[in-house]
Amino acid sequence: MYAFILALHSLIRWFVLASLLFTLYRAYAGWLGNKAYSKFDDRVRIITATIAHIQLTVGLWLYFISPIANYFISHFKEAVHERQIRFFGMEHITMMLIGITLITIASAKAKRKTTDQEKFKTMAIWLTIALLVILSSIPWSFSPLISRPLFRPF
Ligand code: HEM
Repeated sequence: MYAFILALHSLIRWFVLASLLFTLYRAYAGWLGNKAYSKFDDRVRIITATIAHIQLTVGLWLYFISPIANYFISHFKEAVHERQIRFFGMEHITMMLIGITLITIASAKAKRKTTDQEKFKTMAIWLTIALLVILSSIPWSFSPLISRPLFRPF
């Protein structure tokens, strides 16, 4: 079960990133190009927030079954000084919760804005910050600090 959820969580990361990049492209194109906010844009907004929330759910599930997170919780005093353990036990979850909260705020605020330009602008700004937070907290395979595979087989 653990191996499956870990692989699923690793895979969904690509959907989170792809949906964020596509929504950002639509938001900047709409904002800077003075375009009309279409039904398609609204659907894209909802789908992006939903994918982030699915990743949140899978991440929480993973947190409760992960041996790394369990070790972090049960041996907090020692574990907090071990970089790999601290990253997954504390830093990754904190930063990702912030990133997903920013996506939720982007979506909720854009929905309430009355003009098309305000909707695009709100999405563009909040989602840019969310993307940076999320990118900075993914354990990239090329990271010298915490490294995990780009694709984990099921
Ligand atoms: C946009 C949000 C997130 C992204 C893109 C993301 C991405 C990742 C990636 C790429 C890994 C490495 C997977 C592997 O080893 O193959 C990982 C591990 C992990 N993530 Fe996330 N994550 C996100 C949110 C969360 C959240 C919200 C939580 C907890 C509530 C969480 C908990 C974990 C845990 C516990 C691990 C390590 C498990 C282990 O190795 O035992 N993640 N995450």
